Amino acid sequence: MKNICVIGVGYVGLTTAACFSDLGNKVVAVDISEERIANLKKAILPIYEPGMQEVVVRNVESGRLHFTTSYEEGLKDAEFVFICVGTPEGVDGEADLRYVRIAAETIAKTMDHPLIIINKSTVPVGTGDWVSDIVKETQPKPIDFSVVSCPEFLREGAAISDFYNPDRTVLGSTDRDAANRVAQLHLPLRAPIIVTNLRTAEMIKYASNAFLATKISFINEIANICEALGADVKEVATGMGYDKRIGPRFLDAGIGYGGSCFPKDVKALAHMANVHGRHPQLLHAVIDINDYQRRHVILKLEEIWGSVKDKVVGLMGLAFKENTDDMRESPSITIGDYLHGRGAVVRGYDPVAMENASKIMPYLNLAEDPYDLARGCDAVVVLTPWNEFKNLDLERLRDVMRQPVMVDGRNLYEPEIMQGLGYTYRGIGRGYNGSNGKAKKK
Ligand code: UDX
Ligand code: UDX
Repeated sequence: MKNICVIGVGYVGLTTAACFSDLGNKVVAVDISEERIANLKKAILPIYEPGMQEVVVRNVESGRLHFTTSYEEGLKDAEFVFICVGTPEGVDGEADLRYVRIAAETIAKTMDHPLIIINKSTVPVGTGDWVSDIVKETQPKPIDFSVVSCPEFLREGAAISDFYNPDRTVLGSTDRDAANRVAQLHLPLRAPIIVTNLRTAEMIKYASNAFLATKISFINEIANICEALGADVKEVATGMGYDKRIGPRFLDAGIGYGGSCFPKDVKALAHMANVHGRHPQLLHAVIDINDYQRRHVILKLEEIWGSVKDKVVGLMGLAFKENTDDMRESPSITIGDYLHGRGAVVRGYDPVAMENASKIMPYLNLAEDPYDLARGCDAVVVLTPWNEFKNLDLERLRDVMRQPVMVDGRNLYEPEIMQGLGYTYRGIGRGYNGSNGKAKKK
């Protein structure tokens, strides 16, 4: 059993705190938000994450997990402190490190015994050294500490299983003893542990996310070419994915990536490259293709109708991906804003993200379920691949619509079946060029 303090109870911090306590450690989770901490004490979570509530409640009841707003309480017996505060996008794509600075300064002022400070938040290369300098400069009297980078690789909606089944643990440090102690903490996860210097570990995180984002933009570009040539991107992805050098995952074409990580991490990496006189052309292309995918959905509607003015459009799914209520950088916002701005009536349904969505998109006319959403609509646009959308009664859905038009931004349905049911159906990269399922022959 180790004593751990976690700063920040967002997605990453809460998962880190809950899962390390579940592994038998004693964890105190600290957050500046009094509301979040008061709610967590009542087992009300700040986020929707499948399975999380159970883990939190189990460990609070066992006395291994404790929530507080006090750094003193958090650091009192701690051997390790994880920094898990947000690192939002700042100006020009640069990561905004103000919360990391506050956390580092407060740790430095509060600590009264040696500590291992672990950066889990995604931070620009060089931040570990910067945190180290801040702590040194802020400490009222020198106390030993070491900074280790241990980037998170947790997908929202699958955070608990990603925590317990990591493909690898990356540790960045030149302090061998500190790296060994953090490695010990991760041994129960039985994943390969890679120890590098701080900057390399920070870079591994950016390179991993940028590569995954590139894979998505690559398949989206292929999808757009498939549309022009009459090929089917789903089958193309399957055919590619069996090649072990390529692999099947992250090859789902659609409306592009969103969320709290990929958009900001690709931009932050490009920004770091630019600042150092490099020209990250591939990263710029990845971003451009991703932006285009959102417009692509709208273009499909405009291609059918000419204009979206006065049309009623139902957005099926609002969260940036399934199994989360997170709206950060969700493509639904860009698409909803555009449609609303062009005079369409925009309706919305999501199993868990409607409350968050309505704060950002106040014009949304919310529905109770997919059929309620479709009622009176001129088109339904599928934006989030929730399981509950995969087996809908599509005849019932069609019958309540004003016009049976569907733009399927996540390729949940089969074009031929949809056309057979009488839908004007558009997927992403599904083998037609607007000519109803058949590519034009030369
Ligand atoms: C994380 C990582 O920190 C980010 O680098 C990564 O790229 C994405 O995931 P996330 O857990 O999603 O961010 O952050 P968020 O949900 O914004 O939660 C951050 C928490 O830190 C909040 O609860 C906030 O109240 C807290 N916080 C913020 C502090 O406790 N102290 C601060 O000074 C600032
Ligand atoms: C990501 C990283 O995967 C994770 O390791 C961590 O660094 C945090 O950021 P997350 O953003 O929660 O996780 O979800 P992820 O499953 O990676 O999906 C990101 C976005 O890409 C979503 O909008 C998703 O819908 C989209 N996506 C994903 C695709 O469009 N196609 C795919 O094939 C896969």
